[in-house]
Amino acid sequence: MPTQPNNSHLPFGDHKNAPWYGKDIISVKQFSREDLEYIFAVAHEMHVMVDHVGTFDLLKGKILASLFYEPSTRTSSSFTAAMERLGGSVIPINEVKYSSVSKGESLLDTVRTLECYADVIVIRHPEVGSAAQAAKAARKPVINAGDGIGEHPTQALLDAFTIKEELGHLDGLTVTLLGDLKHGRTVHSLARLLSLYKVKLNYVAPEILRMPAELIDELKAKGVEQTEYTTLDQALPQTDVLYVTRVQKERFTDEAVYESVKGAYVIDPKVMKAARERMIVMHPLPRVGEISPEFDDDPRAAYFRQMEYGLYVRMALLAMVLGKA
Ligand code: CP
Repeated sequence: MPTQPNNSHLPFGDHKNAPWYGKDIISVKQFSREDLEYIFAVAHEMHVMVDHVGTFDLLKGKILASLFYEPSTRTSSSFTAAMERLGGSVIPINEVKYSSVSKGESLLDTVRTLECYADVIVIRHPEVGSAAQAAKAARKPVINAGDGIGEHPTQALLDAFTIKEELGHLDGLTVTLLGDLKHGRTVHSLARLLSLYKVKLNYVAPEILRMPAELIDELKAKGVEQTEYTTLDQALPQTDVLYVTRVQKERFTDEAVYESVKGAYVIDPKVMKAARERMIVMHPLPRVGEISPEFDDDPRAAYFRQMEYGLYVRMALLAMVLGKA
């Protein structure tokens, strides 16, 4: 029989007075730097536990309702895996067309229904603000898994955790965000989260997909150094983290406009010759051509490791909002 690790030092157990017990996770604006340090520490311990025992019973008897109105592979399956690795179970509603949503049931009624059966609800919905509305209607914790082009806070948390685990720190880094910065909710959330650290942000995007001016102004007011480019060549050599994003076809009303920008940037071994030896390339995935598979074997390609870090961060968040961390 495998030996059980001694986990008496771990921050696990009943913590009903803990600050995140019963809380919703809707926006990265909720988090302080201290919160992030705490989440990173719990996520790190989750990684240790998964490596040692695979599954353990921290959330035994707890139920997650996983409600996805938009497609997902990583977020949906990693929340399911997180709950199951912690000994809990999941009500998966990944195809809302097979639920009563197809009969016209509203988001709020659907959430009110699911909270009768579950202890926590994870929701992805195409409308900005939908998760916040759901949270207002629900008594149980609601976690935003992406609200249209708004935010994707758990992705930003796992992105920041990836940087910490891969490079050891966030302060002092130059992070270059590349691709569809207009529609990319992951880059909106990540840029806000990184503003808690002393980072320099570069934005590389086609003119029509620039980072929203309001977000740039918000970060400028916090003193974050930001530079915009339309090509990567100037930004790449000084970059510690290159965060690549997909041009989001589903957000365009005119397909010809999408076609005109979809292949604007392609990261491949040749392009990456201009980058530092010690840096990482990240992508929230899925990718559709913006990172060549030829680059996948490069040690700087961190996007597959990034997905795994997402499991540990989501385990930490579920344990926190359910009062077990
Ligand atoms: N990164 C991310 O949100 O991926 P999915 O759309 O597959 O969940």
